[in-house]
Amino acid sequence: MGLEDSRIVRKFVNVGEKKAGSTAMGIFVGVFAAFGGILFGYDTGTISGVMAMPYVKAHFPKNKENFTSNESSLLVSILSAGTLVGALCAPFINDTLGRRWCLIISSLVVFNLGAALQTASHSLPLLIVGRVVAGLGVGLISSTIPLYQSETAPKWIRGAVVSCYQWAITIGIFLAACINQGTHKINGPASYRIPLAIQILWGLILGFGMYLLPETPRFFISKGKHAEAADSLARLRKLPNDHPDLLEELEDIKAAYEFEIEYGKSSWGQVFSRKNHQLKRLSTGVFIQAFQQLTGVNFIFYFGTTFFESAGVNGFTIALATNIVNVGSTIPGILLMEIVGRRNILLTGAAGMSVSQLIVAITGITTHTEASKNVLVAFCCIFIAFFAATWGPTAWVVVGELFPLRTRAKSVALCTASNWLWNWAIAYSTPYMVDPDKGNLGTNVFFIWGGFNFFCFLFAFMTIYETKGLSLEQVDELYENVSQAWKSKSFVPSEHAFRNTAVPVSESKADGYSVEVSSA
Ligand code: BGC
Repeated sequence: MGLEDSRIVRKFVNVGEKKAGSTAMGIFVGVFAAFGGILFGYDTGTISGVMAMPYVKAHFPKNKENFTSNESSLLVSILSAGTLVGALCAPFINDTLGRRWCLIISSLVVFNLGAALQTASHSLPLLIVGRVVAGLGVGLISSTIPLYQSETAPKWIRGAVVSCYQWAITIGIFLAACINQGTHKINGPASYRIPLAIQILWGLILGFGMYLLPETPRFFISKGKHAEAADSLARLRKLPNDHPDLLEELEDIKAAYEFEIEYGKSSWGQVFSRKNHQLKRLSTGVFIQAFQQLTGVNFIFYFGTTFFESAGVNGFTIALATNIVNVGSTIPGILLMEIVGRRNILLTGAAGMSVSQLIVAITGITTHTEASKNVLVAFCCIFIAFFAATWGPTAWVVVGELFPLRTRAKSVALCTASNWLWNWAIAYSTPYMVDPDKGNLGTNVFFIWGGFNFFCFLFAFMTIYETKGLSLEQVDELYENVSQAWKSKSFVPSEHAFRNTAVPVSESKADGYSVEVSSA
């Protein structure tokens, strides 16, 4: 069968699988959970503005004048430390109390406690403690949302639903910039307390909202709670618990899980095992998040204002422009996710980002006219547009759907931790590369980002499997059957792949890298 033929077959298999019931609830649940992105974006976006407020500068730093580099780097990077730890702790709640309770606890208790401490602070120590606690909450939330969304959304629109999480992140960053802008001139504690207190509202909305939504059926299956899994799926699909289509879907999830656990139950050892192609999948997830950070996107969001000012361009206007482009360009990403597919989106995005950054770098060294400044600004905006429509959402989509159920929560946590680790490393090291008294790279820094984006392209080509339109269980089947990522588009899922299949005895014992799926 040719590639084109098999793509058509994959399309028809999926259309043919249209089930009874409604998918509206499954979509609503995932889109609501995306709200957690607002907490993520707002919290990361708000601190630089707060630190620049005249009232804050006159009261918080030791010298009551300006933050020293030690104070400001501590205040900014302490959040990443909290998020990293939070992301790594998430599976302990996700795999015991469930995805839903993890979101409720982390938003209502952890994040809101951190936000309240920050709001109440009138000196540096309490503000820092508040940042750590809020960071823990953001870390927990950021590694649970893609997991929860992927396990509840209908497969034909799962990528678009998870992309809404990225959209919420961009809106959160934008809202933080707007609210800081609105309060920064107030000469009193309200200047920083208003933007910091508003976060509590986001925590309340997410926490109480999640209380009303169902746990994922896959979590219940992993706990052997089959009746609860049926109830949850019944709510998501709007079908009675004993409807044949619902029972069939449940049976597929259960069969795939039973197939997986023949390799061994969920444990950290299994997360790093080669069985089930787990290690290959884990390295794909960890590296896609690292590369998402190495695109250089946060260089613009964290250091853009000062960088553009030093290049003679109005930094505040550019910060506003890049924020608007970031929010707006995520929309085509959401719309294209299920049409173009993950692989093509990532390949196009990496190429587009690389070329636009190289243009910025070359313009920076060759000309210094007004026109060249406009070119610089325009191509920075084009770079952000490419990121927002491609690597921004797709890194989260891929991570949410990459793993088998028994190792999913732990693996997604490691991938999210990689995002935060690189986020921190780039935030920490960038001043050393660009500050005039240090590396003084200026626009040459875009040669580095452009170079990384070239590697993003190679990475996507070599490792990203096309998972558009497949159920999470069919993704398992895909990895079982296709050994090279660039051949994945021609994969056609079989109906009920894991029913009546068994791991060959030798494979279930050995640490085998590839496993034959044998139908009994
Ligand atoms: C990234 C963040 C980034 C944001 C920008 C997210 O997907 O993980 O680090 O600041 O996108 O929109």
